[in-house]
Amino acid sequence: MGLNQKQQEEFNRILKEYLDHPDVRKMKDYCAHGKISVLEHSLNVAGTAYLLDQRFHVGSNKKDLLVGALLHDFYLYDWHDARLSINIFQMHGYTHPGKACENAVKIFGVNEIQQEVIRCHMWPLTLRSVPRHREAILVCIADKICALKETVFRW
Ligand SMILES: [Fe+2]
Ligand SMILES: [Fe+2]
Repeated sequence: MGLNQKQQEEFNRILKEYLDHPDVRKMKDYCAHGKISVLEHSLNVAGTAYLLDQRFHVGSNKKDLLVGALLHDFYLYDWHDARLSINIFQMHGYTHPGKACENAVKIFGVNEIQQEVIRCHMWPLTLRSVPRHREAILVCIADKICALKETVFRW
């Protein structure tokens, strides 16, 4: 992911309690893009957002940035599953940030900035959920970079 040892230690320290949680581990079982699991994708987004923050001296709150990034796709269902209603399949892009946010509040009691990171990561698709805090803007950008890498370039 390109983090140096000190950065990787901070990354692991902040996310440890979340990564140890069984519901976060469930994200391993769902597929995000290609062969990438939702957990792997979320870790890629967290690492990319962290690196963007460092590279451009954005000065984010690291915990809000990393927790929001890790949980941005915490919707806990397989959106490729044809057994799900066609409605969920079609609407996934619009609805999953809300579902992920609901789960993150229920399970971890995430704060308001972390909720914004999750709710607004699909902007501009979700027109009215505009990222305003730096942490939310970085995750919104990082998600698009990672989705592109994971689907088009398969890095
Ligand atoms: Fe997403
Ligand atoms: Fe994502």
